[in-house]
Amino acid sequence: MFIQRADLFLKLLNQRWPKTEELVNGMVKVLSSFGIEQGKLLDLSCGNGRVSINMAKRGFRAVGVDISRPFLKDGRRKAEEHDVSRLVTFVEGDVRRLRNVVGSKYGPFDVVVSAWTSIGFYSEEDDFDVFRQARELSRAGTILFVTETMHTEYLSIKFAPTSYTDLDNNMVMLEDRKYDPTSGRIRTA
Ligand SMILES: C[S@@+](CC[C@H](N)C(=O)[O-])C[C@H]1O[C@@H](n2cnc3c(N)ncnc32)[C@H](O)[C@@H]1O
Repeated sequence: MFIQRADLFLKLLNQRWPKTEELVNGMVKVLSSFGIEQGKLLDLSCGNGRVSINMAKRGFRAVGVDISRPFLKDGRRKAEEHDVSRLVTFVEGDVRRLRNVVGSKYGPFDVVVSAWTSIGFYSEEDDFDVFRQARELSRAGTILFVTETMHTEYLSIKFAPTSYTDLDNNMVMLEDRKYDPTSGRIRTA
């Protein structure tokens, strides 16, 4: 979905862009309350960079890591369009190998972001390990945002077995989901 059918998922990523300014406004407000007005941000599984680019527009330097080359290519193009390419670096790689992919070259980070259900694809231990590695690459007092993310409390109230999303004029995405409340896992076809 993220690599072989990146052309399709990119349409979905693009639909999130208009919602990002509101998200970033909230993040900037929270950061400001911790005295963080600028600094380095690590965007875990950044997609085509909506959080990195919008945070760069607010003065942060951002490093976005994603496994999908086509998403990153689109992100680089968008960073130029938004005139922030000097503030945003996109790195291709697997966040489970964050230590090697990002290493000490770009850190230490003041802010770490995992936006829009960018965890939970693998085991719970894998998720913890990604955050452990992000912690190693961060300063003391770094703020971690896990945002717009599916979780069991939400799913126990709002789980939708099917949904339709208009991707563009002549394309609709149908999702058919199965939810196992014991494991908290969703399988989507
Ligand atoms: C739902 S999208 C969210 C993208 C972005 N965080 C956003 O808010 O627009 C999930 C992202 O996780 C990325 N991803 C999945 N597994 C990954 C991994 N092991 N390493 C890096 N990125 C991964 C996908 O390529 C995709 O861009």
